[in-house]
Amino acid sequence: MRIAIIGTGYVGLVTGACFADIGHRVICVDNNAEKVKLLRAGGIPIYEPGLEDLVARNVAARRLSFSDTVAEGVNQSEVVFIAVPTPPLPDGSVDLSFIEGVAREIAACMTSYKIVVDKSTVPVKTGEKVVETIRRYNQAKVEFDVVSNPEFLREGFAVEDLMRPDRIVIGVQSPRPVPAMREIYAPLEAPLVVTDINSAELIKHAANSFLALKISYINAISVICEAAGANVQEVANGIGLDQRIGRRFLDAGIGFGGSCFPKDLSAFIKIAEQLGYDFGLLKEVQRINQEQMQRFVRKLADTLWVIKDKRIGVLGLAFKQNTDDVRLSPAIALCEHLLREGARLRVHDPQAMEKAKTILPPGKTVAYVAERDAVAEGCDALVVATEWPEFKQLDLERARRSMTHPIMFDGRNLFDPQEMERLGWVYKSVGR
Ligand code: UGA
Repeated sequence: MRIAIIGTGYVGLVTGACFADIGHRVICVDNNAEKVKLLRAGGIPIYEPGLEDLVARNVAARRLSFSDTVAEGVNQSEVVFIAVPTPPLPDGSVDLSFIEGVAREIAACMTSYKIVVDKSTVPVKTGEKVVETIRRYNQAKVEFDVVSNPEFLREGFAVEDLMRPDRIVIGVQSPRPVPAMREIYAPLEAPLVVTDINSAELIKHAANSFLALKISYINAISVICEAAGANVQEVANGIGLDQRIGRRFLDAGIGFGGSCFPKDLSAFIKIAEQLGYDFGLLKEVQRINQEQMQRFVRKLADTLWVIKDKRIGVLGLAFKQNTDDVRLSPAIALCEHLLREGARLRVHDPQAMEKAKTILPPGKTVAYVAERDAVAEGCDALVVATEWPEFKQLDLERARRSMTHPIMFDGRNLFDPQEMERLGWVYKSVGR
């Protein structure tokens, strides 16, 4: 199949590379000419495990190419995917101007039947608007179908998630584009859920909101565990073994962040409001998430008494493990909070330090430490803010000896409380 992907962000680039690896001929289009230049030269603008090799392999096999013009992509393809950003507006609703702009561009150069597939996360009923827009702006009046095909990949596991999805959702207005969509995904052997377009669009927001709800639920349980002297991990294991609940996304911590959950929750609350429903449940999910961070900062203040002038080591800046993405990262929010209180920070992240520097500029109050095991040197406390698995390999003895006080605040429950105490640490985690 000949495929164009418009938008070379996380979703677009990973999808394009994976489709090419499956055997399709893919042209990835981005209006950022610099990015296209970088990709053509073999560079990758993001850190994502496995992506660099995948792109290089498929470019070499001539199945994957890059362009900065939509017309080039559309003319060479049977199926055109839209994977452009849908950022939040100040009132929490979604800015659909990139989707609208791309729909117009596609319409302007379409001279034969095309399947136009939306992969970006959009509010329900966006597909209807895309159909109207293409109809309005296509001079040639050619036939086309619009499909909704939401993406469920997680950053840090994007290639794996795309190649081994739990399901593939295809929202259509008519059966005509279904065989082509089946063909695109045929080698992946995942269940294909075919729905109407509105339902497919809703599946994406409903899924992300439910996952965020799961995290807030376990974070709320963590508060009760602390008050009652119970252990949230044991509670999560105990309830997670019930197959109706499942253990995944039940890890308590300092809350969820990133470019998806916070934005999608606000958007879904807004969409519901516009459709006449007050989604109070999801507002509570947001509230618990904010409170979880405040509670953690209070824990630091309770132990350190005064945060001003304390030297604090911070392990983790990315919003989660396996990524260099710092957008709405709880770790960054935590650093900002500690800086406002007058702390001096020594920070480390295996991948996200360069991107973090644009938000937390290095200087007198923030020192970027290249070596993980050196981050604790001279510190009054050490904080774990991101669930990077390699933080478990921290040289605890070296860290303990190099600190003024061996106090650790583990915001991701990476270490075992009993073991930490045995090793001489004052150890505080979440819900244990
Ligand atoms: C999320 C969804 O998991 C994907 O299915 C979806 O495709 C994607 O959004 C999207 O809409 O594009 P992502 O934001 O990449 O993926 O990351 P997650 O792995 O879901 O983590 C989100 C946040 O939740 C992170 O801050 C993570 O630390 C936190 N989290 C996750 C927890 O606090 N506890 C958990 O048990 C799991």
